[in-house]
Amino acid sequence: MKLWGGRFTKETNQLVHNFNASISFDQKFYHQDIEGSMAHVKMLAKQGILTEEDRDAIVNGLMGIRKDLENGTLLITAEHEDIHSFVEAVLTERIGEAGKRLHTGRSRNDQVALDMKLYTRDEIDELSGLVKGLLTELLKVMEEHIDTYMPGFTHLQKAQPITLAHHIGAYFEMFDRDFSRLSDIRKRMNYCPLGSGALAGTTYPLDREYTAELLGFDGPTLNSMDSVADRDYLIELLSALSTIAMHLSRFCEEIIIWNTNEYRFVEIDDSYSTGSSIMPQKKNPDIAELIRGKAGRVYGALVSILTTMKGIPLAYNKDMQEDKELTFDAIDTVKGCLALFTGMISSMSFRKDVMEASAKNGFTNATDAADYLVNHGVPFRDAHGIVGQLVLFCIEKGIALDDMTLEEYKAISPVFEQDIYDAISLKTCVEKRMTIGAPGQEAMKKVIEIYKKKLEA
Ligand code: ARG
Repeated sequence: MKLWGGRFTKETNQLVHNFNASISFDQKFYHQDIEGSMAHVKMLAKQGILTEEDRDAIVNGLMGIRKDLENGTLLITAEHEDIHSFVEAVLTERIGEAGKRLHTGRSRNDQVALDMKLYTRDEIDELSGLVKGLLTELLKVMEEHIDTYMPGFTHLQKAQPITLAHHIGAYFEMFDRDFSRLSDIRKRMNYCPLGSGALAGTTYPLDREYTAELLGFDGPTLNSMDSVADRDYLIELLSALSTIAMHLSRFCEEIIIWNTNEYRFVEIDDSYSTGSSIMPQKKNPDIAELIRGKAGRVYGALVSILTTMKGIPLAYNKDMQEDKELTFDAIDTVKGCLALFTGMISSMSFRKDVMEASAKNGFTNATDAADYLVNHGVPFRDAHGIVGQLVLFCIEKGIALDDMTLEEYKAISPVFEQDIYDAISLKTCVEKRMTIGAPGQEAMKKVIEIYKKKLEA
């Protein structure tokens, strides 16, 4: 059934109907569509625009539709243009006359703007929960690995020793910012467009504050044209989702590297790995690769909607129907990635011994050797040169700085004494870095306390 047949003399071409219809995807928010309609009719009755009998008939009818959709006895079918038409048609079929009064003082333009906001808001809450779950998991790993030494890298070359807790903490920071971005978006978008009509409000004495309150908004939107034409909050969300996807992808890339035969820093659990159809020895990090790959898809959604919106004159235009599939897909994709990634991390084993051995064999303590000389009065630039010579000597002999004899040290610089060995031990290198934000245990413990409080809040 159509909502707009009156002024037409011909049937819609079937291809036009198919091309125009959105029911195949906007049925995803049937729940929110019904919720919005209930608030709308309650307000209409309160304002004396609808009788209480009509209100009750409509609300009961809508509740019945929702129940039947949920238990599968009512099926959504493709002859309807969109979910709004479907609900109104079934309602009228079921309760008669009163059903035809549901759309009083409303347009599909403010209706769809409302439905999409309600849907997105629910999804933001779910996404926030998933990010929080990941943060909780990361914090657990941090607490367990406050003294697991590993090399920190720049240019993917060993640089200075850090701890696993410190490395994971970097990602905690990223996902914590993602969490706060989601909260910001939720706060900024939480104004209700219902009552904006097609674009210019309506002539009925609607109480927009009331519907906003019923639906959990902070108030009504203040410009009816913007209300039906605004998709900024989706752009913000897709941008935040792209950032989450980018963070997940970077982390996955590291896990893939750490999980290689060459690194062996971690082992992804069997339950999160896959095999090869031909090579019996293989155990592949497919999940990490897929999550890394899916970032492209989420970025695509952001670029799509930015491009769709850039040339749309005020107010509503049908182009905006394109916001749905890509937003739904990006949300579902990121939700899936967050859940899988959290499961992968929580079941993964970290190889303390391999990480520590790797930190020892890569001159990650070279800066500390230079700092030792500086503390004994050598200018830093000269110290840098001297340690460069030590490193060259070690590379030729195939040993670490820790393995050189004191005589060998002294042959390059007489400043070195027995205490050089302690100065360049992994433990000293890490523990000396105790300013807040650094990997030293004391600093790390303070940061972990801050994170704990954050997660409890
Ligand atoms: N399916 C439409 C959308 O997603 C609903 C709004 C239709 N409004 C209209 N004037 N045709 O945007």
